Amino acid sequence: MEKKAKLIIGEDTYEFPIIEGSEGEKAIDFRKLRQATSHISFDPGFGNTGSCTSAITFINGEKGILRYRGIAIEELAEKATFVETAYLAIYGRLPLKQELADFSLNFTKHSMIHEDMKNLFKGYPAAAHPMGTLSAMVCALSSYYPELLKPEPTPEEIDTIAIELISKVRTLSAFSYKKSIGEPFVYPLHGLRYVANFLHMMFASPNSNYKIDEDIVKALETLLILHVDHEQNCSTSSVRLVGSSQANLFASASAGICALWGPLHGGANQKVIEMLQMIIDDGGNLDKYVAKAKDKESGFRLMGFGHRVYKNFDPRARIIKAKADIILNKLGIHDPLLDIAIKLEKVALSDDYFVERKLYPNVDFYSGIIYRAIGIPSKMFPVMFSIGRMPGWIAQWKEMIESKELKIGRPRQIYTGDNLREYVPIDKRK
Ligand code: CMC
Repeated sequence: MEKKAKLIIGEDTYEFPIIEGSEGEKAIDFRKLRQATSHISFDPGFGNTGSCTSAITFINGEKGILRYRGIAIEELAEKATFVETAYLAIYGRLPLKQELADFSLNFTKHSMIHEDMKNLFKGYPAAAHPMGTLSAMVCALSSYYPELLKPEPTPEEIDTIAIELISKVRTLSAFSYKKSIGEPFVYPLHGLRYVANFLHMMFASPNSNYKIDEDIVKALETLLILHVDHEQNCSTSSVRLVGSSQANLFASASAGICALWGPLHGGANQKVIEMLQMIIDDGGNLDKYVAKAKDKESGFRLMGFGHRVYKNFDPRARIIKAKADIILNKLGIHDPLLDIAIKLEKVALSDDYFVERKLYPNVDFYSGIIYRAIGIPSKMFPVMFSIGRMPGWIAQWKEMIESKELKIGRPRQIYTGDNLREYVPIDKRK
C-alpha cells in the first residue's frame, strides 16, 4: 500500500504523499500544503526542506558518505582527474577516452578571455578581494558572449557555456590574483592540462617560467575533485534560485561565487588559516580559543568546524588531512599551522561542547594547509573553492532547467509587521 503522511490541524486531517529517493531518503510532498490547508511550512535555514530532486550527489551526513553520480568520493580522489570528475558531474557518467580527450581539448581552446576584459581588471582596485573580482568577471562573461544567452538554450549551447565557464573561471581566477599583486597577466598555454595551466598562469611571469611539479598538480587535482559538488548547499541553492528565473548560467554562477564567499561557507578556508595564525601569534593557547568558541557572547566560532549535514565526520576533511602530511613531506615543507591544526582538532574533539553538538573538522579545516604549501595565498582559497565547484553548479543548473518541474524559486514568509494603518502627512508626524 502506498504510504501517506497524515497532518491533523484542529478537526481536520489531511494526507500528503511520501517521496522516496534511490538511497531510501524520505520526504513528505507538501507541494499542495497551502492549497489544501491554507498553512505553509516554516523552516528558516531550510534544514528540513527539500528544494528539488537531484541525481548528481548523494550525501549521508550521519555515516560520512559523499558520492558523485554514485561513485564514492574516496575513489574519485584517488583515481580520477578533475576534468574527468567535472564530466561525470555534468553528464552523469564517466567519459570514454575520446570524450575525455575532446572535453579536455575544449578547455584548452576556450581558455583565453576576450582581450577587452583586461580593461575591466584594470578598473578594479588592487586591494579588491579576488572573490569580488571573480564574481564580477564571471557575470561579465554574459556581456562578452551574448550569443550564448538564449532564453531556452539547446543541450549543445549549454555544453558550450559549460566549457566556457569551467575553462575561463581558471583564467579569470589567475588574473584576479595577478591583479591583486600588481603583476602582468600570464596567458594560458596550449600544451598544458587544466590544473597545470592554472598553476602556470598563477606563478609564471613574463621574465620567469614556472616549473610544473607533478606532486603539486596531483595535490591540487585532489582538492578540486573534493569540491566539485555538495548538493543543495548555500551557493548551489543560490545558483538554482537565480537560474530558476531563467537568468543565464554566467549570471547564476556569479551568484554562486558571491554566496560561496561568505565565511560560514567557502570563505571559511581563508578564515581557518587566519585563525590558526592568530592562535600561534597569541602564544598557541588552544584552551583559550576553544573556551572562546564555546562562549556564545564572544561571537567567535572555530572556523573549519561543524557542518549542517555531516554529523559524524566530513569525508572530504578526512581525505585532505591524510594528504596534507604526505604532500608537505614530499615538498619538504614543515608548516607550524598544520601542527597547531592537528592539536586544535584533538582538543576540540575531546571537549563535551563539540562532541554533544557533533562538530567535526569540515573540508575547509585542512585545505588551506595544502594551498599554502602550493604557494597559493589565503585570500585566494575561496577562489580555489569556486574553480572546484564550478562543474557542480553547472550540473545543478543544467539538471534544473532540463527538469520538467522547473518552477521559479519563491519561498513564502510569515508576516510579523504592523497591521493596516493610515498614511500620516509629514507635518502631522510625531
Ligand atoms: N564553533 C563553535 N560552535 C559552533 C560551531 C563552530 N564552528 N559551529 C556550530 N556551533 C554550535 C552553534 O553555536 C550551535 O550551538 P547551540 O546549539 O548551543 O546554539 C550548534 O553548534 C549548532 O550550530 P548551527 O549554527 O545551528 O549549525 P548550522 O548547521 O546552522 O551551521 C555551519 C553549520 C557550518 C555554518 C557552522 O557549523 C559554522 O558556522 N561553522 C564555522 C564556519 C565553517 O567552517 N564553515 C564551512 C562549512 S563546510 C564548507 C562549506 O560547505 O562551505
